[in-house]
Amino acid sequence: MLRTVLLGPPGAGKGTQAVRIAEKYNIPHISTGDIFRKNIKEGTELGVKAKEYMDKGDLVPDDLVIEIATTRLLEDDCKNGFLLDGFPRTVYQAEKLDTFLKAHGQKLDIVINLAVGNEELIRRLTGRRVCKLCGAGYHVASMKPKKDGICDLCGSELIQRSDDTEETVVNRIRVYEAQTAPLIGYYDNSGIIANIDGTIGLEHVFNSIVTAIGV
Ligand code: AP5
Ligand code: MG
Repeated sequence: MLRTVLLGPPGAGKGTQAVRIAEKYNIPHISTGDIFRKNIKEGTELGVKAKEYMDKGDLVPDDLVIEIATTRLLEDDCKNGFLLDGFPRTVYQAEKLDTFLKAHGQKLDIVINLAVGNEELIRRLTGRRVCKLCGAGYHVASMKPKKDGICDLCGSELIQRSDDTEETVVNRIRVYEAQTAPLIGYYDNSGIIANIDGTIGLEHVFNSIVTAIGV
C-alpha cells in the first residue's frame, strides 16, 4: 500500500521515475498530463479545452483538473494505493486532494520532490522525444533509441511533444516556480516530503526514491 505524489518542475524526471515506482509497488501511475494528451489525441471536449492551456505552457484551470484526478482516484485499482504524477500542481489542488482523501479515510504516505536546475531542465525537455504509440521517453543526446526516430519497445515513430519547444519550456518553468513550487512548503509543513536530487542518473534517482519510501 503506497499513496504518493511525485512533485517537481517540468523535465525533472517524474514520468521516467513514475513508471519504475508504479511497477515496483504495483500501484497505478496517474499522470494528469497523460490524461489530457490522450483526450487531445481523441479530440474530446476536455482535450480541446486543455490544449489551449498546454500549448502555451500554462496550467489547465484547477476545477477541471481536480474533477479529472478525483474521478480517476475513485476507480477500483486505486484502492491499494496510487502514484500521482503532475497532480497536484497548485496549493488549491493540494487542499482539494487532502479533503478528498480525508473524506475517503485516506492520506498521502509520502511526497517525492525531484529537484533539477533550470539549465538542465531546458536541455532535457528540448531534446526529449516520446513514442507516439506507447509513450516511452527518449532524449536525442543522452537516451538515444537504438534506431533513430524509432521506439526500442514497440517500433513506432518517436515525436516531439508540442509543449517541448524552448519558448514553451521557459514558460512552463516560470509557471512551475510561481504556482507549483509553493507546494514544497505546503507538504514540508505536513512532514511528508522527501527531497531527492534528480540530477544523479536514472538508477541512482530511483534508488534514492526507494530508500525514502522505506518499504
Ligand atoms: P505534464 O505532462 O505533467 O508535464 P510536466 O510537469 O511539464 O513534466 P514533463 O512530463 O515534461 O516532465 P517529467 O518530469 O515527467 O520528465 P520526464 O520523465 O519526461 O503536464 C503537461 C501540461 O499539462 C502542463 O503544462 C499543464 O498545462 C497540464 N497539466 C497537467 N497536470 C496539471 C495540473 N495538475 N494542473 C494544471 N495543469 C496541468 O523526463 C524529461 C527528459 O529528461 C526525458 O528526455 C528523460 O529521458 C530525461 N531524464 C529523466 N530523468 C533523467 C535523469 N535522471 N538524468 C538524465 N536525463 C533524465
Ligand atoms: Mg511527465
